Amino acid sequence: MAERTGMERDVERILLTEEQIRARIKELGAEITRDFAGKNPIFVGVLKGCFMFMADLLRSVDIYCTMDFMAVSSYGSGTSTTGAVKINKDLSSDIAGRHLIIVEDILDSGVTLSYLTKYLEVRRPASITLVTLLDKPSRRRADVHADYAGFEVEDAFVVGYGLDYAEEYRNLPYIGVLKPEVYEHQGE
Ligand code: IMP
Ligand code: MG
Repeated sequence: MAERTGMERDVERILLTEEQIRARIKELGAEITRDFAGKNPIFVGVLKGCFMFMADLLRSVDIYCTMDFMAVSSYGSGTSTTGAVKINKDLSSDIAGRHLIIVEDILDSGVTLSYLTKYLEVRRPASITLVTLLDKPSRRRADVHADYAGFEVEDAFVVGYGLDYAEEYRNLPYIGVLKPEVYEHQGE
């Protein structure tokens, strides 16, 4: 395989800059701080896409809280959901009676979060709140809505700031629209 550097060559345009992301996360953190003070919530990050958002969001949340992570996959390496959700890593904490705050990178069809919410509800948390950095409402197939959403985005496949295409591009510091030619030959 040829040596590849410069992921930005595969990015058609930058949708959200580092500065825009940082400023919006500060606002979300302040809202969550105000709404959850004294409730000792447990933040549940959905790996792997959440990793950068979770790290930045939690640094702007100033309340006593705990954290845990789940890993789920629904995608394979394509750009649209297969509809099936697989739990690759479950929580290691007991969530009964706790205020659960699920942290996602993007709410797209809603299949993942609707499955996850039902999966966790049976453990009797006190409440379940959904936080997503990006929301693509035009693609919704399941009846889910985010309680806190960073940005509403158009129907384009985006990468960076935790979001991947075939596991790559997660380390871009901004969010960009991937050039269609990068994924249009998938499966060939
Ligand atoms: P949903 O189940 O269709 O709502 O999809 C949720 C998951 O699909 C997200 O957590 C992402 O991993 C992935 N996803 C959806 N849209 C995009 C995108 O534009 N770029 C990268 N990943 C995406
Ligand atoms: Mg994800």
